[in-house]
Amino acid sequence: MGEDKREKLKEFYFQIKECMECELGKTRTNFVFGSGNYGAEIVFIGEAPGRNEDLQGKPFVGQAGKILDELLLSIGFNRSEIFIANVLKCRPPENRDPKIEEINICKKYLFKQIEIIDPKIICTMGKYSTQLILSTDTGITKLRGKVFRVNKRTVLPINHPAAALYTPSRFEILREDFRRIKMILDSYENQETVEDLSAGLLSDSDSGIKTGKGNAVSTEPDLQKSKNEQLGLF
Ligand code: URA
Repeated sequence: MGEDKREKLKEFYFQIKECMECELGKTRTNFVFGSGNYGAEIVFIGEAPGRNEDLQGKPFVGQAGKILDELLLSIGFNRSEIFIANVLKCRPPENRDPKIEEINICKKYLFKQIEIIDPKIICTMGKYSTQLILSTDTGITKLRGKVFRVNKRTVLPINHPAAALYTPSRFEILREDFRRIKMILDSYENQETVEDLSAGLLSDSDSGIKTGKGNAVSTEPDLQKSKNEQLGLF
């Protein structure tokens, strides 16, 4: 089963890595597919590759990546246990914001990755991945720290790690959100349901990946090795 996912992901990578469906194909150095554990129970989704990611072909290898590593370590995780991908697979010039047309073209790749990996939990980092996965226009400030269900997956929106680069108080918020992520992961291991941990229903998030519905199940802020180098599949 695990090997099957690995093969499927690899095959998918080779299918899409020369994508020229949008302008970003012309300016990228590398297509950044994503990397990590193909059997991961949790997938982290960022925004788009930056300069370092574009040069190395891997997600979160720059400053924001260091923060992400620190946060993962704070809950006893490292990258070989999770999968990391982005909404866009190619770097927007000068790290400008992703355009809606680019997201609409590229999202099918992310959705397919999620389908193959089939994680229990999706952690969206920042506005773009959160709004895409929850299909909402609501801002990240209102969504972070809450727990949603989309297509039987648990979706945990958090701030983008880059937000903490120059603001220590934001790092603390991220640490708190990571503690919550760990609690929810542990609850799965202990066979509890996320609903057991939740403190009530917030609202319907009227969509989800493909055709699914998303539901906020908790609002409580105090609830507490690779053949292919670029692909970085463990
Ligand atoms: N920021 C992102 O959103 N993704 C990366 O891969 C790097 C920085």
